[in-house]
Formats: sequence, C-alpha cells, structure tokens
Amino acid sequence: MKKLIIAIDGFSACGKSTTARQVAQELNYRYIDSGAMYRAVTHYFLEHHVSITNPKEVDKALSEIRITFIINSKGETETFLNGINVEWDIRSMRISEYVSHVSALKAVRVAMVNLQRKLGKHRGVVMDGRDIGSVVFPEAELKVFLTADILVRAFRRQKELLEHDDLIDIDTIVQNLEKRDKIDSNRLESPLIKAADALSIDTTHITIDEQVDEVIRMAVTKMIPSKKEKV
Ligand code: CDP
Repeated sequence: MKKLIIAIDGFSACGKSTTARQVAQELNYRYIDSGAMYRAVTHYFLEHHVSITNPKEVDKALSEIRITFIINSKGETETFLNGINVEWDIRSMRISEYVSHVSALKAVRVAMVNLQRKLGKHRGVVMDGRDIGSVVFPEAELKVFLTADILVRAFRRQKELLEHDDLIDIDTIVQNLEKRDKIDSNRLESPLIKAADALSIDTTHITIDEQVDEVIRMAVTKMIPSKKEKV
C-alpha cells in the first residue's frame, strides 16, 4: 500500500489536532502538529523577550531554537523546546494571544516549513495546520479542510483548557479564535487558505469518531495505486 501524506488544515479549534492524531494512530502513521511548532517558537520569544520587529533578534532566536517531538508512554506526541517538555505550556491563552503575530513572520515560517518538510520526508505522515496542503506539501495525496461554527469551536477549546484546570470564559475564547482566524487568513506569508484540491468537512454537528472515520475512508481510496501508477 502506498504511504500517504495527509494534510489537515483549517480554522482554530475545529478539531484538527484530535482528528489528525487519531487518523495517524489508526493508519500507524506519524502525527505532526505544526501549530505546536509555532506555539513553541512563541513560547521561546516570550521567555527571551525577543522583539518581533527586530529581524536580527528573530534570526538569532530561531538559530537557538530546537523543536522535537517525543512519543510518551501513552503513545501521545509531546512537544519539546530545547530539550524541555512544553506540551502543556504552549496551549495557554498567553501563547494563543501572541502566536498569530509570531507565525506571520517570514523568517519563522521559512524555518518551520523546512522542519515540517524534513519530518514528512519519509511519508506516512498526518500533519495538521493552516498551510500544509497549500504550501508545505502541495503534493499531499489527501488534503482535508475542517470548518465549524465559532461557538462550537469555543466550547470545545474551553473544555480542553478545563481538563488542565484552566478556566477561561467563553467570550475571551471566542475573541481569541476570531482574532487568530483573521490574522492567519490575511497575512502575506502563506495565509490560511483551503487548497483547491482539499475536501471540506464541517465538524459542527459531527463527533470526533465520525470525523476520523471520514478521513480514513478518504485515505483508503488514495492508498490503492491507480492503473496509471501501476504501469
Ligand atoms: O489548536 P489551534 O487551532 O488553536 O491552533 P494551532 O494549530 O495550535 O496553531 C496555533 C497558531 O499557529 C495558529 O493560530 C497560526 O497562527 C499558527 N499556525 C500557522 O501559521 N501555520 C500552521 N501550519 C499551523 C499553525
């Protein structure tokens, strides 16, 4: 069977990460959370007071950042920044407030896209983000674009944060999601966009299991080589 690159893009908190993680598990593929990379860079920038308007400071910081992913004992992928586990720290509202400004910088995107391509080199990968199907892997065999109603997305995000005892009011979350959607969609460098050949799934009224099943069903059809490819 052909090993695919599966790109899952879409707006904030549409269930991209949960879907991508489960699809990867079922197919025995590697899961890469590209948003975690931009969040980790933002974490470093905030900790080291890097000015995003100073290209020299940004370049220096990028040369000092090493992002790695390690699979824990439960089989879940965790994000490490310079050897330190930042998986939960990078999900905070503080990072969510800044991440879209950091991810709009060209130097940051070049560095992260290089890393993402390296990680996807051996294929058999599910990567989620904003520009995976449009910029990182335009050749991906399966491209999925997730959307959902803003309130549904906000309640899902609130529940996730609450699981870590972080209670954030719904209005704050809605504002953050709307702000990030706007910045991510309007930036000059690889804006959030649905690739022309991506298949849309509206996740407002469906469960995670249904989302996962739908993506797996699409993936299976792409794994069988076409007659032309067999020749
Ligand atoms: O989980 P959530 O949908 O809140 O966001 P995320 O996937 O963790 O991504 C956080 C932020 O990183 C986004 O709002 C984008 O600004 C940026 N990002 C990006 O620019 N390109 C990607 N491929 C992935 C994320």
